[in-house]
Amino acid sequence: MKILAIETSCDDTCAAVLENDSVLSNVISSQTDLHAKWGGVVPDIAKRAHESRINAVIAEAILRSQISNFRYQKKLKEEKIEQIISEGMKEIDVIGVTLGPGLAIALGIGVNKAKELAKKYNKKIVAVNHIEGHIWANFLKNKKGKPERELELPALALTVSGGHTKIILMTNPSQTLPLTGQGFNKIDYTVVGETLDDAAGEALDKAAKMLGLGYPGGPIIERLAREGKTNFLELPHPLADKKILDYSFSGLKTSFYYKVKDWPKEKVYQNLNDLAATFQNAVFETLLRKYKLAIEKYRPKMLLASGGVLANLELRKRLRKLAKEVGLPIFMPSHKNLNTDNAAMIGRVACEKAKMGEYVEEIDKLDRDPRLQFN
Ligand code: KG4
Ligand code: ZN
Repeated sequence: MKILAIETSCDDTCAAVLENDSVLSNVISSQTDLHAKWGGVVPDIAKRAHESRINAVIAEAILRSQISNFRYQKKLKEEKIEQIISEGMKEIDVIGVTLGPGLAIALGIGVNKAKELAKKYNKKIVAVNHIEGHIWANFLKNKKGKPERELELPALALTVSGGHTKIILMTNPSQTLPLTGQGFNKIDYTVVGETLDDAAGEALDKAAKMLGLGYPGGPIIERLAREGKTNFLELPHPLADKKILDYSFSGLKTSFYYKVKDWPKEKVYQNLNDLAATFQNAVFETLLRKYKLAIEKYRPKMLLASGGVLANLELRKRLRKLAKEVGLPIFMPSHKNLNTDNAAMIGRVACEKAKMGEYVEEIDKLDRDPRLQFN
């Protein structure tokens, strides 16, 4: 089964082509440069950028899926883009698209494009939950069918990005295992912990902004933190109660803000490494503390972690250490482009759902769902 996947839930315009669970192409047109000067994603700018880029991104995904090492020689003309899409669509069996959660007007561009293509080329649509996509980024293969990974249930997934921070318990209602790409059984997703305010990536981005650093802040904080001390300031431990599996990052951010707000610029500048390391450490300690509590409570057979913040090597190291401590296997997407937003992960879920016949019944009625929940 060949799948075209589209993802426009935030500030990346993404399209991918998959052959079942293998990624043939995964194109991401990042809008970071457009949003950077505002210090965060501006929904209207994101919408317009998605609108103007979506066709070219889909055409590029189709070309790359056909020609390895494809490189644009020059910008393709509108007619050429249309021709590539209409030729390419002949080979596509299913369109997968992110329905939500995300920014409403951004999601709308991808959903409308999927509807337009489905109607024009008579294809079926699978609507995908963005967070389910992040989880399944762990089960994407390259053209050679690597890596081979199997999902074992119950599993406990941690998704950490700029828009969400959740601990999700995955169970199989019928308990018929193993569950793999070949034989898909329905999975129950239960959100057992989530942030009550800011997402972890958002907290890192805001801290970076306070320090006068660029956007997105996560990678900048990571670089600075490598050379810094983690105990430079004392920061609170949010929601320390062991019964609570939810997160809160806004108190951490506010406390950090009040500690440095009256400092002269030079003092901030001189201590950037320690400030970054201390804040990053506080965010990661919180992340791991609650995740560990959830592991102890739900006793999963495996751990999964994904989302933009998993591009962070320090977080990956700490998660691996935790997995070792609790004696469980852990999967994290190996490639940065599979951690941050991408369409391949959406195609991966679409593949599973298509196998179960979970297609959109009335395409005309399909609408973005910015607050889409599980089930
Ligand atoms: O998954 P993603 O691309 O988009 C959302 O769905 O939000 O995640 C973006 C988030 C941003 O907050 C960004 O700062 C963070 O992921 N991020 C990182 C790193 N790379 C991206 N955070 C920490 N370290 C990184 N290396
Ligand atoms: Zn995301």
